[in-house]
Amino acid sequence: MESLTIRRPDDWHLHFRDGAVMHGVVPYTARQFARAIVMPNLSPPVTTTALGAAYRDRILAAVPQGVDFTPLMTCYLTDNTDAGDIAHGFASGVFTAAKLYPAGATTNSDSGVTDIRRLDQVLERMAEIGMPLCIHGEVTDHDVDVFDREAVFIERTLAPLVARLPQLKVIFEHITTEDAVQFVDGSGPGIGATITPQHLHLNRNAMLVGGIRPHAYCLPVAKREKHRLALRAAATSGSTKYFLGTDSAPHAREAKESACGCAGIFNAPFALETYLAVFDEERALDRFEAFASENGPRFYGLPLNEARISLERAEVKVPELLDVNGTMIVPFHAGETLGWRLAG
Ligand code: DOR
Ligand code: ZN
Repeated sequence: MESLTIRRPDDWHLHFRDGAVMHGVVPYTARQFARAIVMPNLSPPVTTTALGAAYRDRILAAVPQGVDFTPLMTCYLTDNTDAGDIAHGFASGVFTAAKLYPAGATTNSDSGVTDIRRLDQVLERMAEIGMPLCIHGEVTDHDVDVFDREAVFIERTLAPLVARLPQLKVIFEHITTEDAVQFVDGSGPGIGATITPQHLHLNRNAMLVGGIRPHAYCLPVAKREKHRLALRAAATSGSTKYFLGTDSAPHAREAKESACGCAGIFNAPFALETYLAVFDEERALDRFEAFASENGPRFYGLPLNEARISLERAEVKVPELLDVNGTMIVPFHAGETLGWRLAG
């Protein structure tokens, strides 16, 4: 296959940040995707309908003229989230979903949830009204090894949650393990998962062998090769439970290349190209449209996009460094050549 025309895709997990960087990153996503689920982990986080509406408007102001792009907002859950406010935010169309960060799990998650049982009322309400829950699925207990935090989260938190509230729609985000794939495969239709391009390309050796590579560091951290292979199999399996979510997370170069570098991989500029490399290698190009453009909206109960985009087999060189409206950021695949590009 030399070219591929598919429904315009959506990104079901994305960080836009705010301010100048946001103005720099929004155009990269909007040129490829019709919609994106926007993460609320700003500082301070997007915890109320009013904050969500204001952030949505700031994003819309950064969309280039003539480009059709809709940000889908999420509400950052805390121990004090008001069930009435997020239900109002959902009913009024400001929020598409709510996001659960276990407190301390990742970037700007300090205001996250300390114990999921504190959210019983909020989650019951979400289940009632059909509001999806996006979950960063890692425990934060200091005695749990960072490579085990996703698997332990399934056992301690996610499986009990799904058993308690079987009607709640849950997106197990940026899954990184075979354990997660098995859990999602074995769950009912209300449990879906997003998969990032970095977790399809990188294992933990890519981050640690021959020197520590901060630009391969994200959370959840990349795991062993067998897990990467399980994720590639899941993404390309044709199962409707898996969909595209880049977790593109821009950080300034110096914040990554530091004694305590932050987590996050900026993959937005070549997001479709990096996913397509995987589907091509797995001989599953015919399954790319479902993963990128159909499974996500169906899971969320949203209409499929009508517009089409085309991708063509052609070499694209990824720059070593990008000037993102004044912030220098190293993109995913920096300096590499990818084999597909967005046409037109
Ligand atoms: O690598 C990550 N970066 N993982 C996350 O969960 C958060 C994100 C960020 O906000 O930078
Ligand atoms: Zn994320």
